[in-house]
Amino acid sequence: MNKKYRLPTIVKSHRVTVILILLGMTLVLFLDNPALAKGEPEVQVNSLAELVKMFDSSSCKECHKKIYEQWEKSHHARPLMGLNDQIFIKGYLVRGPLAVKPGEKATKYNFPCFKCHFPQIKYATDLVAAEIADAVLKDDKETIRKLNISCLVCHNEKAVVHGRPEKNVIYGNKDIIDHPKTPVKKSPLLKNSLLCGQCHGLGPNLEFETPVQCATLYGSYLHAYIPSGGTETCQQCHMKDGDHYMPPNFNNRVEFSERMRDALPMQVRTLAYSFQPKEGDVRPMVVVNTKITSKAGHRIPDG
Ligand code: HEC
Ligand code: HEC
Ligand code: HEC
Ligand code: HEC
Ligand code: HEC
Repeated sequence: MNKKYRLPTIVKSHRVTVILILLGMTLVLFLDNPALAKGEPEVQVNSLAELVKMFDSSSCKECHKKIYEQWEKSHHARPLMGLNDQIFIKGYLVRGPLAVKPGEKATKYNFPCFKCHFPQIKYATDLVAAEIADAVLKDDKETIRKLNISCLVCHNEKAVVHGRPEKNVIYGNKDIIDHPKTPVKKSPLLKNSLLCGQCHGLGPNLEFETPVQCATLYGSYLHAYIPSGGTETCQQCHMKDGDHYMPPNFNNRVEFSERMRDALPMQVRTLAYSFQPKEGDVRPMVVVNTKITSKAGHRIPDG
């Protein structure tokens, strides 16, 4: 061995100790750092069928029938389907910076939109992204309709912000140890606007290679509604009595117009008079004063 690199035994062992301590610290930091831990779930599945199964919430219907039926009609049940049952995301895969052809070449980088529209993608590998892209490009609606913001997305994945959600736990407003199949644990986030804010955005989402800006309503809630004295949470306005329908529903035009009329009352005042700039020239005039007040806790429309 080259003498130059030979260290006295005592120093050597010190070095090993230092390295071990550093290693330990890194491990502790890694385990303690929610950002790092959150980014990389240990389990990543290789097929769409497995991913859908992992978040499948159809079993909840048996006992939470009313909530399930409300949710089924909500936009959360079809986050990749736009108006008139079109796969809206298709346009983005066909042209523009996120376009990919053929679908099998897609990776998770093609889907920054999934951060909020289908967050469970982080439990899957690129193979699943490719499978989804293929279905989107083939206009396979039956498959795309299965991808939703299910009960378990809000009641598990998005229900804790410090650290990772525990596996096989449903988060709710109270502890229910003997809840069928899966225990319910209390999470304070369920009553907090931040639960919704995680997806209803501040934006822009600059962490992506192709940054996206979509929903930013939570920003206007925090920076306009709260500072002007607003006190209600998203849940208090949108989930009265645990309602999971969460309108507005843009596919129901009649109901949507009615809700908007209620949400944005318009006051109109008019004054009619005639104006006579010269003899024989009488012009009918009108002054219209309108005032629109918003009852929402944020700007409308959003996005
Ligand atoms: C076999 C019946 C049954 C099934 C299946 C079931 N639950 Fe429940 N769940 C209950 C009962 C009963 C309660 C207790 C109601 C109470 O005490 O207020 C409850 C309570 C809850 C609560 C807590 C409500 C609160 O007060 O915060 C949540 C959240 C919940 N269930 C979610 C789910 C989800 C999500 C699923 C599907 C993965 C599911 N449940 C499946 C019967 C069921
Ligand atoms: C930060 C979270 C977030 C990201 C990232 C995001 N969206 Fe959204 N998007 C939302 C939310 C929340 C809504 C619904 C609420 C709203 O519009 O205020 C929405 C609504 C939409 C709608 C209207 C849906 C409908 O039913 O008509 C379209 C279309 C849409 N997003 C497309 C995209 C596309 C395409 C991308 C990626 C390029 C994307 N979004 C990225 C959160 C996001
Ligand atoms: C978009 C997020 C979201 C989705 C999706 C969602 N929930 Fe909830 N759920 C919540 C929030 C937030 C609360 C607490 C509301 C509150 O206390 O004001 C809640 C409350 C509940 C409660 C307690 C209701 C009560 O009356 O106290 C039950 C039970 C429940 N959810 C079951 C379900 C089931 C079953 C599904 C799927 C069909 C589901 N949730 C989907 C966010 C969600
Ligand atoms: C996992 C991300 C996510 C969470 C958490 C979430 N949402 Fe949404 N929400 C969406 C997306 C995406 C849409 C749009 C789906 C579509 O139409 O394509 C949406 C749609 C809606 C809509 C229908 C209007 C519209 O613009 O589509 C309302 C209202 C709404 N969400 C309220 C809430 C409230 C209140 C909470 C919290 C209790 C919440 N959301 C939590 C992602 C989320
Ligand atoms: C003071 C009550 C109130 C609060 C607080 C509130 N909202 Fe709303 N929100 C409304 C009303 C009213 C509408 C109008 C549509 C309707 O009633 O259907 C609306 C509309 C929306 C829409 C549809 C926007 C569009 O472009 O048409 C979304 C999405 C939404 N809210 C999500 C949220 C989220 C997420 C929060 C919390 C960060 C929140 N809201 C807080 C009352 C409220």
